[in-house]
Amino acid sequence: MQGRFRRLEESPRPQLMAGLDRIETASRDEIAALQLDRLAWTLRHAYDHVPHYRAAFTAAGVHPDDFRTLGDLNRFPFTTKQDLRANYPFGMFAVPREKILRIHASSGTTGKPTVVGYTAADLDTWALVAARSLYAAGARPGMILHNAYGYGLFTGGLGVHYGAERLGMAVVPVSGGMTERQVQLIADFQPEVITVTPSYMLAILDEFHRQGLDPAACSLRIGIFGAEPWTNAMRAEIEAGFGMDAVDIYGLSEVIGPGVANECIETKDGPHIWEDHFYPEVVDPGTGEALPDGSPGELVFTSLTKEAMPVIRYRTRDLTRLLPGTARTMRRMERVTGRSDDMLIVRGVNLFPTQIEEQLLKSPILTGHYQLVLTREGRMDEITVHVEARPGIDGTVDEAGKLVTRIKDTIGLTARVVIEASGTIERSLGKARRVVDKRSGLDQS
Ligand code: DLL
Repeated sequence: MQGRFRRLEESPRPQLMAGLDRIETASRDEIAALQLDRLAWTLRHAYDHVPHYRAAFTAAGVHPDDFRTLGDLNRFPFTTKQDLRANYPFGMFAVPREKILRIHASSGTTGKPTVVGYTAADLDTWALVAARSLYAAGARPGMILHNAYGYGLFTGGLGVHYGAERLGMAVVPVSGGMTERQVQLIADFQPEVITVTPSYMLAILDEFHRQGLDPAACSLRIGIFGAEPWTNAMRAEIEAGFGMDAVDIYGLSEVIGPGVANECIETKDGPHIWEDHFYPEVVDPGTGEALPDGSPGELVFTSLTKEAMPVIRYRTRDLTRLLPGTARTMRRMERVTGRSDDMLIVRGVNLFPTQIEEQLLKSPILTGHYQLVLTREGRMDEITVHVEARPGIDGTVDEAGKLVTRIKDTIGLTARVVIEASGTIERSLGKARRVVDKRSGLDQS
């Protein structure tokens, strides 16, 4: 190239994803061999460069040299959010600070936020797995993506953003909020794909109606929803409302961000885990015992390629099962319907908010906007389900009674149900707040 200006054809092109990665459909033996190599490297890297891991391995009486088969992994200790907090902010980094190109952090509702860091190679891996996720969901180069995950310390916005660019999509980085404008941009730019939390997608759906627009007539064909638990009932609601395919994206910042696993549009049977970068296990949440595939329990991840912040047997708190691959040879996880720390115990009954979501979406007149309020009256815990009727609907008294019965019959819990006017329940711009617990601070005697 001569002179100051290049011709357009000569402009450097980033390496774009060509389609399926070969490893996505490799044999199980090939995947296992790759995992074995990469786990050995990760254990050694963590031990050599992170004082926390060296101390934890030593305390557990294990050394990276003890790792010879995949089954040896469960001799190594777990890592928890508390470990990350205890090493706040940069104590879990395995590379010199100068090698870190990006830092994200969890919002940290209680205590210190959880900090994660990425090297150039980690950012490249993340873009790759995010691109793979979007591709699995049916997104293709040349499509427009309306990305309404929050940009900032949260990994959703930027994680999906770089994945989409890697895939060759045009990204509209709207972030969350300003719902009226979201609808306007969708109407004007005609994106085929949207990425957003499922709860905020419902707020966007309402805004279409408020503006007198038919959501099913809009350009969106694929929605990629995650960052919070949602149900197949919610999937049906969104698919019917927009006339689109709704698929599940899973991830967590400690492991990398969005793109740890993604559902394939052709099967919609739970996210496939990108097992060449993240090694999954399911353990008994109480005892920590590793469970065979198919058993329900807590999902645990070990990173396989991360440089800046390798994680060894990280306890996600997410409850699921590992299932065999279908559309890919990589294993699937059952859709996460709750976290062990989201489980409510009301008068001795264990309950996840998504169980209520499933029941309320069976009603033709109720929406997916809901909040559970816990109170204590005397010695008794009470749960009140606040839910909204669709606009312009009468006869809500009957419906409340029906929902009380369905909750009693399926969950075994007597709940109060209050059907609120449309638009009354708090709308989140990102992850929804499903539970308001007013019991704390009350007299516990
Ligand atoms: O939520 C990353 C993400 C962004 C995933 C955008 C998908 C889309 P964190 O803020 O660290 O990271 O929260 C991680 O969110 O442990 C789960 O409890 C929950 N979660 C994430 N995806 C799903 C999902 C991002 N598809 C935590 N279904 C995880 C259910 C999910 N829960």
